[in-house]
Amino acid sequence: MKGKEWYQADDIAEEYETKRFSNGGRLIDRREKRAVLDALGALEDKRVLEIACGTGRFTVMLAERGADIVGLDISSAMMAQGRRKAREFGVGERIEFMRGDAARLPFPDDHFDAVFAIRFFHLADTPAKFLAEMARVSRNQVFFDTFNRFSTRSIYNWLLPMGSRLYSRDEVERLLGDAGLVLANEAHDFVLPYGFYREIPNGVAGQFRELDASLRDSALGRKLASVSYWDARTR
Ligand SMILES: C[S@@+](CC[C@H](N)C(=O)[O-])C[C@H]1O[C@@H](n2cnc3c(N)ncnc32)[C@H](O)[C@@H]1O
Repeated sequence: MKGKEWYQADDIAEEYETKRFSNGGRLIDRREKRAVLDALGALEDKRVLEIACGTGRFTVMLAERGADIVGLDISSAMMAQGRRKAREFGVGERIEFMRGDAARLPFPDDHFDAVFAIRFFHLADTPAKFLAEMARVSRNQVFFDTFNRFSTRSIYNWLLPMGSRLYSRDEVERLLGDAGLVLANEAHDFVLPYGFYREIPNGVAGQFRELDASLRDSALGRKLASVSYWDARTR
């Protein structure tokens, strides 16, 4: 798995957020955070595991809102950024960052109320194994996103140096079924792909985002959306 190695480097970790979430990328950050908050619902004292927490974009946000959260990632460099951010936002004591491999989670069955991963499954060469582990340690909810095979993302996906796997709906349904998960909710977004937003100034990104939202809400747009959010239950 190339993505496992790619994010180990200090310089990659240091520039991770500025590369993706400045300029029009801010809209993406906002949308992803909204997706996580909507999916997880009430957070006070909820026991949450974030897989591939990276620089703690969601970990810190959820700790600030009262979740009892563990962030797990295979890259110490990415989590160093997360720890720094947690201290900056005054929640350093409330988050447990753990180095570990998502393929072998060091927790007993049903240990968390909710387990989620954002921007992780495109890096997974064995997604069934990862999803099975997420389902095993969650007693209720598993939430994750995928980049879609039949979407505008496929235009540049092959160029990405860390590797990037695209999923069809059939594949996601099969993965969920094999992990014993039942789909509860789903959302599809970004007909204009992330790579496009990253290249345009924040000032004009809002206008494109409006166009994108109207495309997304059409039948064709739903089919062409480049990102899907999958919200599943363990039973
Ligand atoms: C694209 S980043 C996403 C980080 C964060 N979820 C976000 O959305 O900002 C992918 C992350 O997956 C982590 N990762 C890759 N393979 C992993 C594995 N097998 N177990 C745990 N983390 C892994 C990388 O270290 C990296 O931090």
